[in-house]
Formats: sequence, C-alpha cells, structure tokens
Amino acid sequence: MARVLIVDDERKMRRVLQILLEPLGLESVPSGSGEEALDLFRAEKFDLVLTDLKMPGMSGIELLSALRALDPDVPVVVLTAHGTVQTAVEAMKQGAFDYILKPFDVQTIELIIRNALELRQYRQENRFLKDKDQGPPTTVFENLVGGSAVMQAIYELIRQVAPAKTAVLITGETGTGKELVARAVHNLSPRCDKLFVPLNCAAIPQDLLESELFGHVRGAFTGAQMERTGKFELADGGTLFLDEIGDMAYPLQAKLLRVLQEGIVERIGSNKPIRVDVRVVSSTNRDLSTAIRDGTFREDLYYRLNVFHIHLPPLRERQEDIAALAQFFLEAFGREMGKGGLLLAADAPALLAGYPWPGNVRELRNLMERAAVLCTGTQVDANMLRLLLPGTTAAPAAEEASTPGSDNLQLGSAVEEVERKLILRALGVANDNKAEAARLLGVSERTLWYKLKRYAL
Ligand SMILES: Nc1ncnc2c1ncn2[C@@H]1O[C@H](COP(=O)(O)OP(=O)(O)OP(=O)(O)O)[C@@H](O)[C@H]1O
Ligand SMILES: [Mg+2]
Repeated sequence: MARVLIVDDERKMRRVLQILLEPLGLESVPSGSGEEALDLFRAEKFDLVLTDLKMPGMSGIELLSALRALDPDVPVVVLTAHGTVQTAVEAMKQGAFDYILKPFDVQTIELIIRNALELRQYRQENRFLKDKDQGPPTTVFENLVGGSAVMQAIYELIRQVAPAKTAVLITGETGTGKELVARAVHNLSPRCDKLFVPLNCAAIPQDLLESELFGHVRGAFTGAQMERTGKFELADGGTLFLDEIGDMAYPLQAKLLRVLQEGIVERIGSNKPIRVDVRVVSSTNRDLSTAIRDGTFREDLYYRLNVFHIHLPPLRERQEDIAALAQFFLEAFGREMGKGGLLLAADAPALLAGYPWPGNVRELRNLMERAAVLCTGTQVDANMLRLLLPGTTAAPAAEEASTPGSDNLQLGSAVEEVERKLILRALGVANDNKAEAARLLGVSERTLWYKLKRYAL
C-alpha cells in the first residue's frame, strides 16, 4: 500500500484530502506544518507528498527543497489556491511533480496522484537498475552464465580444447551445465558448421542403444523393418555427445571402444565399414573410477574418452555465480511470461547463498521459473523465495541436502505438487471457470493459464 504524506495548516483541508485518498487504496498521514512533515518524512517511508504552498513557518516551497535533498525520487505535489498559479509554477521549476488548484475536483486529484505514484515506482526501478549496473557485469560465455574464478577457468579450458579433435569428458553433479559445456566445445571448434548430435545413454534401452549409435540395415533384428542411420554417421564431421556415458552397458562399451579406435562403424547386420570423422564429447555424473573398480566400466574406454577432462563444480561451491544466474533466469522467464524483465531484490542473494542446491543450476533455474510465475510486481524478494524453498531457514535440512543422493532433490516437485493441487481445487470450486479460479488463487488469469500449460492440466 502506497503511503502519502499530507501537509496543510488547515485541519479541514487535511481531513478532506484523507477522505479522498482512502478509496484509492492509499494510506495517508496528515501533518499540520512543514517542520513536522519533515520530521515525519525523516522517520518513516512515504511514496508521495501532497503539500499546501502557503503555510505559516516553513512554506511549501521550502519543504519541497528539503524533501528533494532527502529523497530525490519521492514525487511532491503542491496544492495552491486560484490566483497564486505563479507560485505553483515556481514549485514546478524547483522539482515539484505537479500542482493542484484549490478548490479541486476529485478526478483531477486522482489522476495526478496516480501519475505521481507511477513515476515513483518507475524511478525506484531505474535506481535499482543503475545500482545494479555499478556491480560487475554478468559474464556470459557461450550461453554459460557466471563470472566466478572456477567458471573463468572452465571457459579457458573450453577455449583451449575446442579447436582440436581431442575427446573430452565432462563430469559434475546433475544440473551443473555439462551439456552446455559440451555444446560450447562444439560451437568453438572448426566443426561448428556440422552437427552436434546428443545421445543420452541412460534414456534409451540398452538393446536399442547399439543401433542408435551404429545404425542397422533392414532385417538386422526383429523390428528392424527399415534401414537406420546411426548417430555416429549423423555426426560425421561434427561432434557426438554421449550423455550419461556411465550408464552404458558393459558389452556395448567394447563395441564403442573399437569404433573410437578405428574410426570405422558398421551398421548392425552389415559388414560394410563406414569411415567416420567424429569428435566425441561425453559426460557423466557418476564417479567412473568407482565404476571401474566395481567392474561396471571399462578402464580402456575410460582413457579413450577422458583425454581431456573438464569438471564442473557444484553450484554451492561457486557462490559468486548464484545471484547472477538467478537474475539471468528471472529476466528471461519474466520476458517469456510477458511480465517484462523481473528483478532479483536486494535481500534475495543472501537467502540463495544459504541453500545447498542439490539440483544445482537446473534447480535454481526451476526455482526462478516458479518465482516468475508467482511474481505480481517487478521484483522477487527473499520472502517469496523462502516460500518456494522449504528448509532454507532450517540448518539441519541444509546439511542433509548437501549429502549426495538425499531426498531434498524432490523439494521442488513437492512445491509443484501442492501448487497443482491448489489449482485443481480452485478449478473445482469455480466450476472450471478460469477467471474465477485465478481470482480464488490470487493470481492473474495469465499466470493461471501459464501454470495450466506447465502442469499439463
Ligand atoms: N552456467 C550456466 N549458465 C546458464 N544456464 C546454465 C548454466 N549451467 C546450467 N545451466 C542450465 O541448467 C540446466 C541444466 O544444465 P545441463 O543440462 O547442461 O546440466 P547437466 O550437467 O547436463 O545435468 P544432468 O547431469 O542432469 O544431465 C539447463 O537448463 C542449462 O541451460
Ligand atoms: Mg545433461
């Protein structure tokens, strides 16, 4: 609720103005003199000052210049009687936002106040942007956001390895940006005009993975009704990204190794050798040395893939990047949802820094998406984030979450589940009327539509 300071030596006038402002949803505080008003202004926060010009003691003009010295952003509207327009013009020259002639009509005063408050908001946002500009600029390298020392070192590694055909192994916890790094390696290589072909070794049943990789001829096995080109052939001249390589079945690892050694593939069911020129980038969130010890990953393949190693540290170990990433995602989601570029409020970074981020950048991205959905103003602050990040204040939960594999990864989905249920309930109560449901939920219709789409309701 915006707060208005009303300054007039006439009690009746103060009362009339208060009554006028009330239906506008504004909180007003009356003051009988310039001196008192100045004290009040120093002690409390106001979004707008309405002041009479002619008062005993400190005049309206004097009050205006004192206020402007204290807070140049707060709009001051002066009230003046007919016949003294000249003084009003003087006040404008000194920085008053507008003037209102007494006796005034309600519509004019409403309009002027609304405009003044809008200006106030606009000025505050601009100031925030300016303050932000004075901070270090956001570092972006090939879609990777983050200027921390660790990330700078990673950008350097990418730059060094990209030009050669060297096999690269990217390791790191889930959501740390391994795929983005793989793409950066490809984009900065001479192969960038050929294909970057990703293949997720964990997402495809192992018996199909072989034909995904090498292709097959018609009738090679039951179900192989048509000939199929493998990813190796597709990536010829470009880059093959073997995602989640740690999940590849042991027997297939031997076949992959052979192809890597010889640079030749054979489609399943054919013995026609096809020469391919493919750079292989692979990634895993598993600890491959343990897998080698357990006998589930071939050591020889490991050395073939891991000619050059890039390790992405978890987000909690690159604190400096958290706020920049959060702001980056908020801005992008805000725009996508037609809310303009949203801002991260000044109190948010400290809260984000205290969370362990078991899902790393992906989790932060999802959080910012939810925050953008819920945000009705221009900023996302710590209070809102606290609602979305259960356990942020409880230290034990944070400790638990930092152990790998903890359940905390599901915090995000728990919040989504609650949100989903609330939406369904509101729709039920509102007989499927979206406008009514949005009202019940206290969100805009646009937000509700977005959520319905998102949750596929
Ligand atoms: N430094 C970064 N800057 C901007 N976005 C990032 C960054 N790191 C990760 N992301 C985003 O976070 C999400 C997860 O990244 P990515 O898919 O590359 O992670 P991953 O390490 O491959 O995870 P997983 O092991 O689960 O496959 C993506 O939406 C990606 O765009
Ligand atoms: Mg990935």
